[in-house]
Amino acid sequence: MNKKDKYAVFGNPIKHSQSPQIHAAFATQTDQKITYRAHQVEPGRFKEVARSFFDNGGSGLNITVPFKIDAFEFADELSHRARRAGAVNTLALQDDGRIYGDNTDGVGMTRDITENLAWEIGDKRVLVVGAGGAVRGILGPLIKRKPSLLLIANRTVSKARQLASDFSDLGDVRGCSFEALTGNQFDLIINATSASLAGELPALPSAIVSDKGCCYDMMYSAEPTPFMRWAAENMAWAVSDGLGMLVEQAAESFCIWHGVRPKTKPVIELIRESLQAS
Ligand code: ATR
Repeated sequence: MNKKDKYAVFGNPIKHSQSPQIHAAFATQTDQKITYRAHQVEPGRFKEVARSFFDNGGSGLNITVPFKIDAFEFADELSHRARRAGAVNTLALQDDGRIYGDNTDGVGMTRDITENLAWEIGDKRVLVVGAGGAVRGILGPLIKRKPSLLLIANRTVSKARQLASDFSDLGDVRGCSFEALTGNQFDLIINATSASLAGELPALPSAIVSDKGCCYDMMYSAEPTPFMRWAAENMAWAVSDGLGMLVEQAAESFCIWHGVRPKTKPVIELIRESLQAS
């Protein structure tokens, strides 16, 4: 039997990470021999621990909160989308020993929305709620899908405006306050704030979901998040959490490491079931 390739996810906290289960399912499906572990890294120690991981035979890492910017700085080479995002969630050891950094979060989300959920982005009016690191990761792939309008609304409006200006060379994207949304309607609303983590809801005006409008929360949980409940109360045509995005970004990382794209639908179902059972 071949020696198993060694992979891991680094984060803090990491206890509830679904990544080991997702990558184990992909590996079984595609007949790859790997180990994939979740590892809690203490703040300030990312670079040292990542260096030691690769020096000791590691082949690839996923990086989650709060180390995506450390990983960006750690990589020897960066993909265009990682450079745009200013953050890295995938590190891969190359044949020449250099470490390649990529960001698969944004394509993971757009793939979940357009392929798994079969919602459209092209020619649609899209609202992104939030202006933190998570939004920086998704804007490039969203703009690529050519929405007719792309608006970023944030509680701290200056951050939304700054982010819009940082991406304005890629396409038409604007930033505004929550209040400025009143009277407008959107076909797709993406909650990219961390509000759901605290059981909170961004203070969005009502009546902003268009007829047939869809609402997507980048967070996931066994129960509908406050944003998903708000969407249902506001007559959204379809509502989803971000579990599919989690699996799709993992599939994209898997593809970078192993050169083979796993099927995601059965793995989304598997993780959904295990989430509901826990
Ligand atoms: P991440 O990397 O997950 O994006 P972040 O950079 O800390 O995390 O950004 C968190 C985002 O969630 C911000 O847009 C934040 O709004 P502010 O910039 O105004 O702080 C948003 N957020 C968090 N809690 C929120 C709440 N209860 N209501 C509205 N927005 C909230």
